[in-house]
Amino acid sequence: MDSILVRGNGPLSGQIPIAGAKNACLALMPATLLSEEPLTLTNAPRLSDIRTMTQLLASLGAEVTALQEGKVLATSCHGEINPVADYDIVRKMRASNLVLGPLLARLGHAVVSLPGGCAIGARPMDIHIDALAALGAEIELKEGYLHANARGGLKGAVHEMRFASVGATENFLMAAVLAKGTSVLKNAAREPEIVDLARCLRAMGAQIEGEGTSEITIQGVDRLHGATHPVVTDRIELGTYMLAPAICGGEVECLGGRIELVESFCEKLDAAGISVEETARGLKVKRKNGRIRAVDVVTEPFPGFPTDLQAQMMALLCTAEGTSILEERIFENRFMHAPELARMGARIEVHGGVAKVHGVDRLKGARVMATDLRASVSLILAGLAAEGETVVSRVYHLDRGYERVEEKLRAVGAQIERVKGE
Ligand code: EPZ
Repeated sequence: MDSILVRGNGPLSGQIPIAGAKNACLALMPATLLSEEPLTLTNAPRLSDIRTMTQLLASLGAEVTALQEGKVLATSCHGEINPVADYDIVRKMRASNLVLGPLLARLGHAVVSLPGGCAIGARPMDIHIDALAALGAEIELKEGYLHANARGGLKGAVHEMRFASVGATENFLMAAVLAKGTSVLKNAAREPEIVDLARCLRAMGAQIEGEGTSEITIQGVDRLHGATHPVVTDRIELGTYMLAPAICGGEVECLGGRIELVESFCEKLDAAGISVEETARGLKVKRKNGRIRAVDVVTEPFPGFPTDLQAQMMALLCTAEGTSILEERIFENRFMHAPELARMGARIEVHGGVAKVHGVDRLKGARVMATDLRASVSLILAGLAAEGETVVSRVYHLDRGYERVEEKLRAVGAQIERVKGE
């Protein structure tokens, strides 16, 4: 297994291009199941999760061809469709459950393996099931598979979700676009990835209003046609790289970054003593002066502070002046990076969903282990600011959500390299 070696070597300087969003692309790709005509996605990220989704769609009978070194995905689904999403693929990546809505809409039935839990939480699918049941689907769990049937097709309905789940909103959207009549989703998730999916579906001929708000209205249509759609910028990759100059000094411009994707995050950076400036090409980030200030953070659904930036923010606050309180409200087990940061000399107390981070003058390099995608990159950020060498193992987690992380950081002056494993 590969690992990544980082040497803390002071301020960074230069530009980092931000890729298309993993979490948008993973919802956009299953939309190809909704039409016989081709769907082309541009600005696609090159990640192992995208390859897993490609594998899953191929197993369902769709074709996904990566063009231009993987930055363009040509997808189509005009042949016979296999309604079964197999456990062996679904267990590799939870987002596989995003084929449930489109399969139901296209075929009237689907058999999708339940993904099971993951490192950061139990992650049940009850909200997805309730939302699709509201559209008339009968869903039963048998031997670890969700068997969903919509005899006579899906029917428009008004449904309020108990929590603004991102995935359940995406599955409901992709089901309701081909349902008979009008659907209204209340307490919908408002993430930019949802807005991107709605825009793509509209380009395919869907009738949708209200995306980005907590109430989305969908007027079902008989069929969707092909389209070409640019994947939105990855706000989590953006936030991650904005923290690089924040944690070890210097000035970095994140190309393609936009404030509206990371507003609540920028408010916390400002409070911590980090300046963010909009440029013609993106966002320029640097420390104002002196040490980082402690700030309190609570993770919430968009437009609140994103849970996917919590681990990275913790790495920064480990070096702050004073004590910060981080509250994780989205996932029940998302502080696995804390004991690894403690190996680097961080002082963190975790009590349930609350972490108290007592800032230290300087972190020290150590051998640490990645436990999930965002935890892995928080350890790399900590390594950039630490004295000496840090070796992060199990970086396969990282490759799921960050393309060429060591190249991008080296380009702005970081000392970082991948160590090939046996
Ligand atoms: C998406 O996951 C993202 N993944 C996650 O990013 C992100 O952390 C999450 O949204 C929140 O922003 C993708 O888009 C592929 P949810 P999703 O449904 O859709 C509970 C990363 O690092 N819940 O909004 O699975 C759930 O357990 C990943 O890139 C239910 O209880 O998130 C969680 O506690 C990690 N029942 C909370 O809601 C359900 O049916 C939020 O889940 C669905 C969710």
